Amino acid sequence: MSEIVFAPSILSADFGRLVQEIESVEEVADSIHVDVMDGHFVPNITIGPLVSNSLKRSNRVNTPLSIHLMIDDPWKYGPEFEVDSEDMILFHREATDRPFELFDRLRGLGCKVGISQKPASPVDEIFPMLEELDEVLVMGVEPGFGGQEFNPEAIERIEALERRIRESSHDTVISVDGGMSPSTIGPVVRAGADKIVAGSAIFGKEDRVQAVRDMEDALP
Ligand code: DX5
Ligand code: ZN
Repeated sequence: MSEIVFAPSILSADFGRLVQEIESVEEVADSIHVDVMDGHFVPNITIGPLVSNSLKRSNRVNTPLSIHLMIDDPWKYGPEFEVDSEDMILFHREATDRPFELFDRLRGLGCKVGISQKPASPVDEIFPMLEELDEVLVMGVEPGFGGQEFNPEAIERIEALERRIRESSHDTVISVDGGMSPSTIGPVVRAGADKIVAGSAIFGKEDRVQAVRDMEDALP
């Protein structure tokens, strides 16, 4: 098993001190997970390109951003994010009928590209896309809010993706987002996850570095 990496989700951070919150996790973060919600695709509103681009321009964030678009119009707003080669933009399969064209459009920004699905969407529709993708983000909860309970049905989707990736020559990363904590991380990693996205299990704790260490200690 390769090393499991962590992406703290700032959805559970204090938005009034975003830079300091990000700084508090950079030591243990592979990337910073930025949840973008529009109040349509999911019933919640968060932040968009303005805030994300300010973070980039602040020059105080030294960790790549992983921008998770939970919005109806990734075609319009995806290209508004300022990104570099280490950053990633992930959109939802349900938000476009032309995913391959959107991969190209977003790659044209110079970043990595990933896709996600709501839990009810069929995972096999992702299989033909794997070679185009840097990452597949499997939702462990219905997208929209932090702090929800992990739905174990995600395990089967992770296993199916892992099998498919292993059979092919791609090295697409499988990440899992939602409900991740020391008590849920084990089966997810056994199923094939490479990256863990966690909001409340990290930002809900006083000592964020220790919170990630606690998840590492729970790895199988
Ligand atoms: C949910 C978001 C997640 C969220 C996870 O729609 O996509 O990134 O921050 O939060 P936790 O880790 O608290 O379940
Ligand atoms: Zn997310």
